[in-house]
Amino acid sequence: MRPRGMGEATVTSELCCEVDFTPDQTANEGFRGESRFRFSIPGLDEERGNEIGEDEDGDLLLPRSRPKEFCISVRQSTRTPLARVGEQVWRGALYLADFLVSRGEALTDGVLLELGAGTGLTSVVAAALGARHVVATDVDVGTILEQCRANVEGNSSLLRGEIEVLGLDWTRPVEDQISLWPKDTREKLDSLRFIIAADVVYHNELTEAFMGTVTALFSLYPSIKAAFIALEKRQVPCHASFSPIRSQYVFTVEELDTVAPMYEYFVSLVRKLKGLKASVIEDEFQQFFCYQRTKELVLWKIER
Ligand SMILES: C[S@@+](CC[C@H](N)C(=O)[O-])C[C@H]1O[C@@H](n2cnc3c(N)ncnc32)[C@H](O)[C@@H]1O
Repeated sequence: MRPRGMGEATVTSELCCEVDFTPDQTANEGFRGESRFRFSIPGLDEERGNEIGEDEDGDLLLPRSRPKEFCISVRQSTRTPLARVGEQVWRGALYLADFLVSRGEALTDGVLLELGAGTGLTSVVAAALGARHVVATDVDVGTILEQCRANVEGNSSLLRGEIEVLGLDWTRPVEDQISLWPKDTREKLDSLRFIIAADVVYHNELTEAFMGTVTALFSLYPSIKAAFIALEKRQVPCHASFSPIRSQYVFTVEELDTVAPMYEYFVSLVRKLKGLKASVIEDEFQQFFCYQRTKELVLWKIER
């Protein structure tokens, strides 16, 4: 279902100027292409482990900690209609990915489910870190799911766990949709530990539907420990005049130089949660990916 006001305006992720992007030579006037996201995590030299060796001259070779390098290639667009923003990578995805890398193993225990996974970048990071099973979900619109699957496939050599890409629309009853998923997946969800989501707050109706989905998942799966939701809250500049698009979306809409925050609305819904605690993660966590970490980036944790 497309929420009210979601017309044909096109949007561009602010991240698009910050990442390494190679446009396709042929298709779509250069709006589609491939981006590379590099990151490294501290680790031991895999070939030598902890052993002390000797070089040809008899000098000792001490084990050195060498960062493990990753390069994730993601197919994406740099401009899409609002209904297909999931075909682009948004900054929240990298902020959430940084958090996953910084928490490492602790977050990769059990099954992890991503809502609004878009290109699948954050799910790929989780599975590269060792999450056993990741269910990357999004609404089945345009080529979002297809592109996400292709991105998972394209990075399969990095993955230590499995990723499944499935449709899950926040505006429809969660249980009904999950009942149509493969039996094997439904069984794995009995050990669902974490929900993750990035940049999913940009329209009040969708935010309500999103929060409804999060709470429904918490009640369906007692195994869930926490949901981590990374958002970028944007401010409305004082010169902004009223426009339905400005008042609805937090993205930079082409030819309109301003955006409107739906963040406060999200906070008001979070404050009304029953039986769940919500807090902002205030701890600084290390930046592993290359992007501009704006002060508007925020990470919420929802737990029992
Ligand atoms: C701004 S994009 C963020 C994508 C990705 N998480 C990232 O940060 O790069 C918002 C995501 O929410 C998804 N979305 C929008 N409406 C949805 C719905 N009704 N059900 C499920 N996902 C939805 C979009 O398809 C898109 O993937």
